[in-house]
Amino acid sequence: MPKYKIATLPGDGIGVEVMEAAKIVLEKLALDAEYIHGDVGWEFWCKEGNPLPDRTLTLLENTDCCLFGAITSKPKEEAQAELSPHLKEKGLSYRSPIVRLRQELNLRTNLRPCKAYPGNPLNYRDDIDLVVFRENTEDLYSGVEYHPVPKEVRDILDQTHPRMGRFKEVPNEDMAISLRIVTKKGCENIIRDAFEYAASQNRKSVTVVEKPNVLRETSGMMVRTAREIAKEYRNVELWETNIDAMCMWLVKNPEDYGVLVTSNMFGDIVSDLCAQLVGGLGFASSGNIGDDYALFEPTHGSAPKYAGQYKVNPTAMLLATKLMLDWLGEKERAENLEAAIALAIKVGKVRTYDMGGSSTTLEVAQEVANKL
Ligand code: NAI
Ligand code: MG
Repeated sequence: MPKYKIATLPGDGIGVEVMEAAKIVLEKLALDAEYIHGDVGWEFWCKEGNPLPDRTLTLLENTDCCLFGAITSKPKEEAQAELSPHLKEKGLSYRSPIVRLRQELNLRTNLRPCKAYPGNPLNYRDDIDLVVFRENTEDLYSGVEYHPVPKEVRDILDQTHPRMGRFKEVPNEDMAISLRIVTKKGCENIIRDAFEYAASQNRKSVTVVEKPNVLRETSGMMVRTAREIAKEYRNVELWETNIDAMCMWLVKNPEDYGVLVTSNMFGDIVSDLCAQLVGGLGFASSGNIGDDYALFEPTHGSAPKYAGQYKVNPTAMLLATKLMLDWLGEKERAENLEAAIALAIKVGKVRTYDMGGSSTTLEVAQEVANKL
């Protein structure tokens, strides 16, 4: 029996191509694993009315972790239009598989390393080495939204919030509400993960990135929790920065920062900013990590424009594979893979279009495999 069972979910578009790339390096690394394919994505929404079929969830339950490619999702009207005729009248609604997976498998921590590898012509600066810890299941992405706003909800808000008076004339259907839900447990988990990581990697600081002067309760809870937990880590300093200022500082002095920790939506935004500092979507990998399961993915989508052309950069996917190896405890293979990726970037002979080259996705993967 192989040591690991790994679910591979290529998904749509370039997800399929970068998954092939990952397989090339995994084969070269001779990881003792069985890879089991799972269906996910737009095709299954159209054919089955569910982009994340139950059989795929069962597969994940029976594996150690998951490597995920990318999926396509489309707005409400298009989603309905593309459903198979026999599914159209069933009142189905599309839910993002990746958001669902994060919530149903309680993959509560989103880890997004953003490191400038020397020689990458796309680096904003060469001395950037950031890791963003993003809470993955709460906040404005909890999925609690109202439109139109039910009368009961408005009544309660009118009672508890006198300031709602200024919306008095707005009809229920002309108002939409999304709830920002933050729990103490959620704050503790993500902040502890960030501090544990910082301590284990000898990082000098953790920056909590919120907006507690305005979002006094939700951001306030994150910052207060950070202050409590920071006391347990003598060698790691806690820095506090507002999300808006953070975006400015990241452009001005990105090299000052090491570990950032933040809530779901701020993390979504700020991690894309960080990704672009080190080469953009072709380099941005992420781990979605729970207590006993994890899913690793490049952060880019299915890039329909390039689908089927084997043109896109597989580096994000290869770095996601490296994160998976780390999580599995395969430290040596993880280090070797990162070193091979870094060397391939530095040598710079085999590059995809985004780096100014004309090599294919699989040629880059093969180049990395050759350097292992
Ligand atoms: P995208 O990330 O798919 O692509 C945007 C552009 O970024 C591409 O046209 C390409 O120029 C560049 N790009 C992306 N990956 C690249 C790579 N590996 N190498 C080089 N260049 C790369 O975002 P877009 O176009 O906004 O969304 C396309 C579809 O993907 C949508 O249906 C969207 O909903 C979905 N999506 C899925 C995600 C996921 O699976 N986690 C994340 C983001 C978007
Ligand atoms: Mg995002």
